[in-house]
Amino acid sequence: MDNRPIGFFDSGLGGLTSVLELHEKLPHEKVIYFGDTARTPYGSKSPETIRQFASQIVDYLVSKNVKMIIIACNTVTAMALDYLRQCHPDVPIYGVIGPTVRKVSKDGCAKVGIIATKATISSGVYSKKLKAINPDIETYSLACPALVPLIEEGFTHTEIMEKTVAYYMDDFVRNNDFDNLILGCTHYPLISEHIHKLYPELRLYSSSAEVVNEMSDYLSENDMLAGANEYIDRYYASDLSDNFINMTELLFKDRDSKIKLVKFEG
Ligand code: DGL
Repeated sequence: MDNRPIGFFDSGLGGLTSVLELHEKLPHEKVIYFGDTARTPYGSKSPETIRQFASQIVDYLVSKNVKMIIIACNTVTAMALDYLRQCHPDVPIYGVIGPTVRKVSKDGCAKVGIIATKATISSGVYSKKLKAINPDIETYSLACPALVPLIEEGFTHTEIMEKTVAYYMDDFVRNNDFDNLILGCTHYPLISEHIHKLYPELRLYSSSAEVVNEMSDYLSENDMLAGANEYIDRYYASDLSDNFINMTELLFKDRDSKIKLVKFEG
């Protein structure tokens, strides 16, 4: 048994969707979450900048004695997973992309659409990893850079959000022949209702959920699951935006948690 918390982080509030999956699956597990709300979005920034931001956050989470770290961000996973693992070889670090690719491959999907940030799509990581497992798989990729800022600004349940999804995706869905869609950004499960309403024929895969499925197997196989304990979940952000506070309180209203501002030097 290991009652230490699990560290999660994202550029903002998107990674909360992964924490939500964790609480549903393993309710005893406690969480320290860091949302880099002061510097979001990451998806249009350079790989060097993303690595630098991510490594500050991981150092911080490691200093809090977490038992493992979930990079609840596709962009950071695409740009910095190997680097972060090299920096902290003693802490298990999970990214969201590998588990999603393995699930899609296991399900035998033949035609797969991928939507994500600019950085994730430009890296080509999803296509490369899917094709490494099944060279015949057909992939179709689309960057949707305006979605994360809109979600961070609280437009999740609005008509503007639905219109923006349609603006990006209508031609993409119409002109390509795929029936599965990877939500390759942890913010996107928050708008999956719009995606499902507009394109009900697509089967959606959430990177936020798949990483939790894999890491819970890891915890159980390594005897690292938490028992019932008193720890209170912590949600840290580099800027306490109203939307970060509201979303955290809304999603986790049934759990004991604290929200706090944490700023890095420099
Ligand atoms: N949730 C992050 C991801 O999964 C969003 C990155 C961003 O800030 O652009 O990629």
